[in-house]
Amino acid sequence: MLTGKVALITGAGSGIGRHMALLFAAQQATVIAADVDPKALEGLTDEASKFGFDVVPEVIDVTDFEALTALRDRTLSARKRLDVWVNNAGIAGMGPFPELTPAQFDRVIAINLHALVNGTRLALETMETQGSGTIVNMASVAGHLAAPFMTAYTASKFAVVGFTRALRAELRLKDSPVKILLVSPGFVETAIINKGGQHGFPEWLSFLLSRPEAVAKEILAAIEDEKEEIVPTLNGKLMKNLGRFLPKTTERGSKLFLAKSWKDALLNRITLEEPRRTKSGSDPNS
Ligand code: NAI
Repeated sequence: MLTGKVALITGAGSGIGRHMALLFAAQQATVIAADVDPKALEGLTDEASKFGFDVVPEVIDVTDFEALTALRDRTLSARKRLDVWVNNAGIAGMGPFPELTPAQFDRVIAINLHALVNGTRLALETMETQGSGTIVNMASVAGHLAAPFMTAYTASKFAVVGFTRALRAELRLKDSPVKILLVSPGFVETAIINKGGQHGFPEWLSFLLSRPEAVAKEILAAIEDEKEEIVPTLNGKLMKNLGRFLPKTTERGSKLFLAKSWKDALLNRITLEEPRRTKSGSDPNS
């Protein structure tokens, strides 16, 4: 179904975006792969070229609205159409709230929310004129349930869910030809989860992780089936339903993420780390 179509994916250098880029290209779509990391894009295009896929790398920081607009315009003048726009670029900014500087908090909101809103604006203008198109917005299960040590991320993803649903309602009222798909994955094994790192996903819970290629496949199927919302993979569905029906249990369960091993979790040996401060008392992240 994507044969001959043009798809722009942000955050395409790594993880879910990278697998979407390869999968869409395998369907014979022209993929515009946008990412702030040139090395990651190089890896993607090398892999794509081995299979003879059409992937066009574009180094861009999605928070730069002028650059994003220029990318949209460049794509249109070269390819004449834009059928799928995936707002996928994201960062996590994990850690205790007092340790996040205002600049770090704002950066999460700028990438995960403001750039997604701007991408949606640019795609919508184009697709309404064209008379068709699908916008894919990456939220998260963290956009449906609140998780400790993910304040900025949770705030950004709740906002993505609200924004996408409100806009869809608006488009429906005016019979817009543009479709919007909201995607809310659970935990997926990619760089963003910082597996084993400080405030990252614990190694001992790795069995819970979904694979990024499985998420990419579900997104492709949802675009083809014109779905409005998906929660890809089993762990995402389980977590979303737990958060909905047993919110207190979910909150208590999230303590498990602070344990260093199965044994510590069973013995309830869970300690909150002291905020990291330098000798002068200033924040080491600033
Ligand atoms: P990832 O870290 O593997 O990929 C994110 C990509 O976004 C990277 O290539 C990075 O360079 C790019 N990026 C970051 N800031 C950017 C900027 N300013 N401009 C352009 N590109 C930028 O992570 P993953 O997991 O593939 O994340 C993709 C999306 O899926 C994100 O929106 C994330 O929030 C969402 N998600 C991921 C989950 C997971 O467990 N991995 C769960 C739920 C949602």
